[in-house]
Amino acid sequence: MNNELILVLDFGGQYSQLIARRVRELNVYCEIYPFNTSIEKIRNLNPKGIIFTGGPASVKDEGAPFCDKEIFKLGIPILGICYGMQLMSAMLGGEVDKASQREYGKTDIKFDSSGRLFEGIKENNTCWMSHTYYVSKLPEGFRVTASTEYCPAAAMEDERNKLYGVQFHPEVEHTPDGKAILKNFLFGICGCSGDWKIASFIDYAVNDIRRQVDDQSTILCALSGGVDSSVAAVLVHKAVGDRLTCIFVDHGLLRKNEADEVEKVFREQFNINLVKVNAQERFLGKLAGITDPEKKRKVIGEEFIRVFEEEARKLGKVDYLVQGTIYPDVIESGTGNAAVIKSHHNVGGLPADMEFKGIIEPLRSLFKDEVRNVGRELGLPEKIVSRQPFPGPGLAIRVMGEVTKEKLEIVREADYIFREEIARANLDKEISQYFAVLTGVKTVGVMGDERTYDYVVALRAVITTDFMTAKWAKIPFDLLERVSNRIVNEIKNVNRVLYDITSKPPATIEWE
Ligand code: XMP
Repeated sequence: MNNELILVLDFGGQYSQLIARRVRELNVYCEIYPFNTSIEKIRNLNPKGIIFTGGPASVKDEGAPFCDKEIFKLGIPILGICYGMQLMSAMLGGEVDKASQREYGKTDIKFDSSGRLFEGIKENNTCWMSHTYYVSKLPEGFRVTASTEYCPAAAMEDERNKLYGVQFHPEVEHTPDGKAILKNFLFGICGCSGDWKIASFIDYAVNDIRRQVDDQSTILCALSGGVDSSVAAVLVHKAVGDRLTCIFVDHGLLRKNEADEVEKVFREQFNINLVKVNAQERFLGKLAGITDPEKKRKVIGEEFIRVFEEEARKLGKVDYLVQGTIYPDVIESGTGNAAVIKSHHNVGGLPADMEFKGIIEPLRSLFKDEVRNVGRELGLPEKIVSRQPFPGPGLAIRVMGEVTKEKLEIVREADYIFREEIARANLDKEISQYFAVLTGVKTVGVMGDERTYDYVVALRAVITTDFMTAKWAKIPFDLLERVSNRIVNEIKNVNRVLYDITSKPPATIEWE
């Protein structure tokens, strides 16, 4: 059991996840919990320190998020950031008011280096501010330890009770000494040792899973072959061994060789109980005649759940379901959710009418790059660990119009050639997502002396970090030439290749 947990209580701030990331970058394990987490739960978690995040509300708003006041009596050091500082003040008898001037952006600040948070830190400094309200009167026992032009109490502390507040954001890079301030909190004040590594996360997660399930429990995981569900499955397997069964539904919409690779890794490398369902024909049947992209998604999502349920029933009673939920999914679903479930279009969603004792989500506090590192540490092959995102409905939304076996075959081969050439050119780490699309268009071509009338394949490659916006990747012309030549030569029924040079927005990454 890792005994160095920092608990981040999330009040809905846009930087909440950054705080957790920064703490973990300092080798201290950290988890984010909703602001209304019960005091019993917090006591059980036994954190070395607690951080209150910022948030969009004002403590004066009706319905503003408050935590349990008992938290201040636990004797655990607390750092309140932005709204978190105002909350601490409001709950302990201080006052919060609208500042005469809203501060946003890089702001000059004067630190008092006798404050424990600011030990060793340059006094005349800058910080990142983003606030409308501020602490206008400190609660009893506190003193001011930093100030800016419009915020006389830009930081406060009550050393005796180990309570600290900062109005600015130490977690963002624009606060130059932010990392040093967090270090002071974690190491100087909370007494953390900073020896957390990905390997310790694995030990921690394995113990946690063992605590959650008893020796008799049976556990089920829907494996999609993607990074998250694969890492979650291997981690749970490490904790419970043969009591885990994974169901992998091959809906026939996967990339070339993908289904076989997943089967090999899980059966042969990890010796995991795997039920592979060959449901290709079934999905093709359901997709027949459907051209509307949203309808395709819906049909695939529903059929996936049906197949999964049928297979799960064959296994008899199942107690727990494993979900590969990661932190960004938790955020998307809003905080405060006990069991967060990925929306059903992500293959691997929760069957609607199956009952479980609980859901196991071992990755729910991690970011994607951290999940990849856990996967590497667990020995999953790089092919799975660094896999680019792939939509749940798979190739079905990369075939424009009706999905048929023939069209799937064409897009799968084109995609394979494109991926192979990108990897050969060593661009696979630089491009965020790249794939082929079978446009619904046929054009005239010439091959030998023959006139042809065949399909047009489009190539898409984008660079993005958040997938909400994306730039088309300026890949070299000679690479495009090689890919185009190979596609028209190696794949029957394709006589033209296009490269998509549209960014998102206005286009989306996928074509459907
Ligand atoms: P768009 O096309 O909306 O895609 O720019 C953004 C990211 O989401 C992926 N995507 C999906 N993933 N189910 C998924 O699991 C879907 O229905 C779906 N549609 C798009 C897409 O591949 C890209 O990474």
